Amino acid sequence: MKGVILVGGLGTRLRPLTCNVPKPMIPLANRPLIERMLVRLRDQGIDEVVLAVRYLADHFRAAFGDGRELGITLHIMEERDPLGTAGAVKNSEHLLEGDVFVFNGDVVTSLDLQAMLDFHRRKGSKTTIALTPVDDPTQYGLVEMNTDNRILRFLEKPRAEDVMTNMINAGTYIINMEVFRYVPPGEFYMFERGLFPVLLQTGDPMYGYPTRDYWTDVGRPETYLEVNHNILIGRVQVPFPGQEIASRVWVEGAAHIEEGVQLVGPLVIGPDVTIARGASIIGPTVIGARCQIGPNSTVEEAVLWEDNCIEEGASLRRCVLGHGNTIGPRTVITGGAVVSDECTIGADNRLDHGVRLWPGTTLKDQAISF
Ligand code: GDD
Ligand code: MG
Repeated sequence: MKGVILVGGLGTRLRPLTCNVPKPMIPLANRPLIERMLVRLRDQGIDEVVLAVRYLADHFRAAFGDGRELGITLHIMEERDPLGTAGAVKNSEHLLEGDVFVFNGDVVTSLDLQAMLDFHRRKGSKTTIALTPVDDPTQYGLVEMNTDNRILRFLEKPRAEDVMTNMINAGTYIINMEVFRYVPPGEFYMFERGLFPVLLQTGDPMYGYPTRDYWTDVGRPETYLEVNHNILIGRVQVPFPGQEIASRVWVEGAAHIEEGVQLVGPLVIGPDVTIARGASIIGPTVIGARCQIGPNSTVEEAVLWEDNCIEEGASLRRCVLGHGNTIGPRTVITGGAVVSDECTIGADNRLDHGVRLWPGTTLKDQAISF
């Protein structure tokens, strides 16, 4: 079975985390999002994948090559100009035939792909859209169906007054390549605002496949922290790198953990991490490779990427740190704050209330209490 993953978006809403790292490469429990997705597809029987990228094709080639190491066949297709979601698949038409899976590349889900394929075949569908319930459909593609699950209406980013259901497009499709005859080659064209509305006009059978499987769009910093927590507490099953050295504490490679450190799982700790005496690491927390956690500091419900240095007595709680930051003594970072990359925060600062620091920010001692 073949699949296409759409990864051409700019990841603007995830800034500042995506200032230096393309959205598909941001880590989930210490592995790139896209790698986790490729492994999930492989484990569910999709052995040939097209990555539809808009920029940084070489970056993906360097990371995954032809896919052999992951046990799949991988094609990387680059767009010179953005082609939109449907245009990107049209651009790969020569590699595809029959029914193919198409995935938005920023979704984490436990959707059962074989069950969806059975549904698609049983219905004689030409386009099947996975659906999930959400609280606020205005951020998504709204899908209305009849009692036989046939789609009657597709409305992208609906206005609040047009919301009649809480079921939205979950960003996984099974599409028969026949319907790409409606998609113009070499042009910007979207599924959401182009092909799906067209299929409602032409009458080609289009069905919705609703499930209550775990689902999150990793598009915003709030959902980024939440999805890491949900992975760690097992709401979505993914393999953790490393050895389980204590109950729900996974450590990859060598770590240097001094005596008297408190470790409360679930924790995922990358290679070459140092944790000094008196520190408390309380889950669900992820610590990236080579981080140094200073004495008597606390890290709780946080996600740290690689190479962060946390100094004595600092306290990180419900926050995200990108890579290469230095956090001064006794500084507190909490309340969904995001510190992106290569920031230097002096002693005795307090960052709270979802504040976001752009790469390279420097704060002196006692500069901020927000
Ligand atoms: N190759 C390529 N080219 N990929 C693209 C392009 C493009 O021009 N534009 C967007 N993508 C990719 C993005 O990288 C992302 O993986 C996916 O297509 C969806 O784009 P987003 O920008 O994340 O869209 P969204 O989250 O606002 O809405 C979409 O996803 C929702 C579910 O998460 C829509 O499909 C909604 O209908 C849906 O509910
Ligand atoms: Mg999205």
